[in-house]
Amino acid sequence: MAGLSAAAGRVYDRLFAAVYDPILAGPERAGLGDARTGLLAHASGHVVEIGAGTGVNLRHLPRGLRSLVLVEPSGPMRARLESAVAAVQAELPADVRVVDGTAAALPVADGSVDTLISTLVLCSVPDPQAAIAELRRALAPDGRLLLIEHVAGHGRTRRLQRIIDPAWRIVGRGCRLVRDTRAELERGGFDTTQVDDWALPGGGITGPALLGTARPR
Ligand SMILES: C[S@@+](CC[C@H](N)C(=O)[O-])C[C@H]1O[C@@H](n2cnc3c(N)ncnc32)[C@H](O)[C@@H]1O
Repeated sequence: MAGLSAAAGRVYDRLFAAVYDPILAGPERAGLGDARTGLLAHASGHVVEIGAGTGVNLRHLPRGLRSLVLVEPSGPMRARLESAVAAVQAELPADVRVVDGTAAALPVADGSVDTLISTLVLCSVPDPQAAIAELRRALAPDGRLLLIEHVAGHGRTRRLQRIIDPAWRIVGRGCRLVRDTRAELERGGFDTTQVDDWALPGGGITGPALLGTARPR
């Protein structure tokens, strides 16, 4: 039975990776793409992206980064990420690595990262405080965490999110609708005063969002 559910999970992972870019195409055109460009213009130095997915952020990164580590736990996503890296290799730093891993265990030394990128990922990590502690460990004292995350909304939206969340979690491979990521970041030692409340274009039930730069306190 466990074997069957693992096999079903692998099939689902392949399907999720295959439909990811087509599903996101509308929101990207409606403003998510522009938000990525504006946010990622602040990336510099040694950069680590968690949950890099199919590599959507690659084309929004500025030139001149010193190194780039792309961390992604899903095999099918990573295969697409590797192709995306190869397609824009000339625009990326020579030191670029795609790594099988999670946000809770980054393959970098303490305080060595200038820029961390997390877009639509902290909703899915199983233990937000473990992931945030790891981001905090990796980041240089004057480093920055660039983020776009969908989060729990308010009022009627939040009530609806609570109802949908159990099913969403299954369909979205662990994605939570009801996560208060700003509070989690603050609790984990990040200053979020430069993180704006935002609305994900075409986001629907995932509309309530955060956009901006968090800094270690
Ligand atoms: C919704 S996709 C976002 C992809 C990309 N960052 C973007 O902006 O389009 C979430 C990604 O996070 C990855 N992910 C899930 N759990 C993770 C974890 N614990 N650590 C790092 N990445 C994770 C998933 O495999 C998936 O590629």
